Amino acid sequence: MLLLACTRGGSTAASAPSEVERGGQLYVANCQTCHGGPTGGGMMDIPPPHNSNGHTWHHSDCQIVEIVLDGPGQMGEMMRRMMGAPGGAPQMPAFRGQLAEADVRAVLAFIRTWWTPEQQEWQARVTRQAC
Ligand code: HEC
Repeated sequence: MLLLACTRGGSTAASAPSEVERGGQLYVANCQTCHGGPTGGGMMDIPPPHNSNGHTWHHSDCQIVEIVLDGPGQMGEMMRRMMGAPGGAPQMPAFRGQLAEADVRAVLAFIRTWWTPEQQEWQARVTRQAC
């Protein structure tokens, strides 16, 4: 099941519209207040934008799924230090129990539509190597 999902996630083929649509609804409900929309933001922002200005596309599918379900852990702390986030800056919550893995993959399919073709290709390659 996991293997299947990863294989599929690694392809650059467009996801079924219904999955992207569902992901979009989940994104607006759970992520947008912190991570923003399809434009704006920058690489050094905390929280980072998920659009083509951010660095979400640097991460493989399985890493992104893990971060969303279980929180960013040490990576989050490192990012916050690196970017000098003020103490009161919002933190990435863990969504396990709230979202299923399939929900997170739908959100990812939605976010992916914001990336440039080059970013999508790069991220698909990282996913093939890491997942
Ligand atoms: C309360 C604000 C908040 C909400 C809501 C939130 N995040 Fe985050 N997220 C953050 C912050 C802040 C970080 C940066 C790491 C840190 O400081 O914990 C982050 C980091 C991430 C990262 C790793 C960095 C990157 O760009 O790859 C991913 C992936 C991510 N969030 C996805 C999501 C998704 C998907 C949702 C909705 C299901 C979501 N987040 C909801 C605040 C939030």
